[in-house]
Amino acid sequence: MSNDSIKKTLQVALGVCFVASILVSSAAVGLKPLQEENKKLDLLKNILIAGDLYKEGEDLNKTFKENISPEIIDLATGDVIPKSEYDDELNIDKFNVQVLQSSSKWGEDIPADKDIAGIKRQPKAMAVYRVMKDGKVEKYILPIFGKGLWSTLYGFIALDKDLNTVKGFTFYQHGETPGLGGEVDNPKWKHLWINKKIYDENGKLRIEVIKGVVDASSPDAKYKVDGLSGATLTTRGVSHLVRFWLGEQGYKPFIDKLKGENKNV
Ligand SMILES: Cc1cc2nc3c(=O)[nH]c(=O)nc-3n(C[C@H](O)[C@H](O)[C@H](O)COP(=O)(O)O)c2cc1C
Repeated sequence: MSNDSIKKTLQVALGVCFVASILVSSAAVGLKPLQEENKKLDLLKNILIAGDLYKEGEDLNKTFKENISPEIIDLATGDVIPKSEYDDELNIDKFNVQVLQSSSKWGEDIPADKDIAGIKRQPKAMAVYRVMKDGKVEKYILPIFGKGLWSTLYGFIALDKDLNTVKGFTFYQHGETPGLGGEVDNPKWKHLWINKKIYDENGKLRIEVIKGVVDASSPDAKYKVDGLSGATLTTRGVSHLVRFWLGEQGYKPFIDKLKGENKNV
């Protein structure tokens, strides 16, 4: 058969395709565990960032183990879920909000009028990461997520031990436009959250992101964060998702329970 024949050309082309497809699929399968591991490390890194514990070059697993006590809580009651109730989906070592959200056992639909975070379903249980120092809780890092303009934003908010003062704020995954909604990653904007208050003295949820710049002389300034200009829709989404997760359907029962316990000490 001549090298220029159509048959030979097709044989060579098919052979190359076959070898390439084997290489690509084995690379995809072979690299999957590495990708999963990197995803897990990225999550750890972001928990540490929210807790202001991240230092470049340090062993993430070690820093996490030495400083953070993680557990899963029942959102409705605020109680810690014992490890004996863990299963394939609910497990602090492989905690994944998306898995729980879509789970028939651990997820539930949100009535449309209460779904301010635009997520349709929510986990009934969420992870809480306690930052420990000398045997005492210093901060609580709480996972949060909700709809922006183009995407669902996933992140963490860290609260001080008073359970009312923001100590860290970060997103680790979103698909908002770089330079517009993507500015939620801007360290300067994230810094604006630090020391803002969540609830007023009557326990009413007050934190919000406003359109424009907060009037620093206003008595309510401590509850308000500047919106990102040119990204009102993303920042409105962020405001709603934070309020959802710190409200009754989110961590409020857990927070109220802890505040009650702290009072009795
Ligand atoms: C290509 C494109 C991408 C955009 N991306 C975002 C975005 O990620 N987040 C956002 O809030 N607005 C985005 N906008 C702008 C919104 O359509 C809207 O104008 C804006 O949120 C209004 O904010 P402002 O009132 O602060 O100007 C985008 C607009 C365009 C044309």
